[in-house]
Amino acid sequence: MVMAERDCVLHSWSVQADWDAPTVVGGEGARLRLADGRQILDMSSLAECSNLGHQHPRLVAAIREQAQRLCFVTNAWGATPRVELAQALLDRSGFEGGRVFFTLGGADANENAVKIARQAAGKPRGAIIARDRSYHGASHLAMALSGDTRTRALVDPEAFGVHHVPPPYAYRCPFGSSDETQCGERAADAVADRIDELGAEQVAAVIVEPNAGTNGIVAPDSYWPALRHRTAQRGVWLIADEVMSAFGRCGQWFAWQRHGEAGRPDLMTLAKGLTGAALPLGAVVLSREVAARIEHEMLYTGLTYCGHPLACAAGLAALAAYEEGDLIERSRSLGAALLAQMRQLQHRHPVIGDVRGGHGLFAVIELVADRETRAPLAPWPQTPPALKALVDEAMAQGVSFATRGNLILLAPPLVIGEGELADAVALLDRLLARFFPH
Ligand SMILES: Cc1ncc(COP(=O)(O)O)c(C=O)c1O
Repeated sequence: MVMAERDCVLHSWSVQADWDAPTVVGGEGARLRLADGRQILDMSSLAECSNLGHQHPRLVAAIREQAQRLCFVTNAWGATPRVELAQALLDRSGFEGGRVFFTLGGADANENAVKIARQAAGKPRGAIIARDRSYHGASHLAMALSGDTRTRALVDPEAFGVHHVPPPYAYRCPFGSSDETQCGERAADAVADRIDELGAEQVAAVIVEPNAGTNGIVAPDSYWPALRHRTAQRGVWLIADEVMSAFGRCGQWFAWQRHGEAGRPDLMTLAKGLTGAALPLGAVVLSREVAARIEHEMLYTGLTYCGHPLACAAGLAALAAYEEGDLIERSRSLGAALLAQMRQLQHRHPVIGDVRGGHGLFAVIELVADRETRAPLAPWPQTPPALKALVDEAMAQGVSFATRGNLILLAPPLVIGEGELADAVALLDRLLARFFPH
């Protein structure tokens, strides 16, 4: 007898007794096929990771070809797809003379970025500054880095040398500013102040998400260049957690590139879109300067599957697929159109307090109880029952939307058809009217 999945698998971020999700058996483009035969339009790229859609033929072919040639070789030995992918990432990011450390996903990329940054700073236990309301993964150090109220009681950030500062959340500015540009600058100042309080000689790095995150915060344009400037002034490495924001999600290969050279971090971490999620792979990309600092020292880190050839072959195919489909540019133009459509919805639905993002195919809708006072519908990070009902109904009608607290996160695969996107927006419009009548 075949067991039901809910009876034998532990599912992440779920109450096991309540888990009741459908089984996916296939997919194509932005659509998933369920075991019951239904098709679902995926408006979140699953975990904001399937940027190339589902079962992209180029990825499937590359994995098959690599599997026939060589499935695995340890990181102690060389592997052709590994060096090719490292070179391609250094090329796309302009990290000339840098190096790439491959991991299996985002959390271990962030863990290793912190280790490498500390080593390169010559501060093996140096302080790390991260942000409240951020997410960097669910391993212990990544949880300590994350400003996540759900797991705050499970880990003591200071025991890991991690210090948090308020985020550049312009809609509810923690620094009391009603001006977006000023809020971004104050958030960068808060990082600088914390470095100064701790003493720059004690601080190894700052790690933050440069643009989108599932926390729904999209930093004002003033934030990242100011943060880069203040950290450089103090000789503290800046790590961009690009796990979600890279590979077109924010309209660039890497979100910091929107700010040009003035936004270049010292290290960046990647995962998710790196292989379009076809295989698990993460990476830490080091600048020339960081790489040079550790070049003649032992690197005390490793993973059995560092730079797994199958995953690296998928990464190379993913980069080719982004380029062939002009998907970075496509994300930028569809993202701008999506943001404009969300602003129209905001005119019609008073429950929409704020709409943000749209640098690429990533837009956030924040729902409020009162637009004037900006009172949240439910205390963060709870999801209001009416929003849960909206999402359930959308799923029943064949569209999957991601939510977090009072937020609806729109992050479809970059290959989504314009008609599909329009259908999803129209459905959202109808469901907002039904579940949040005014
Ligand atoms: C910004 C960011 N960093 C890190 C992670 C963790 O990545 P992973 O789940 O691959 O460990 C995530 C995952 O959602 C993320 O969004």
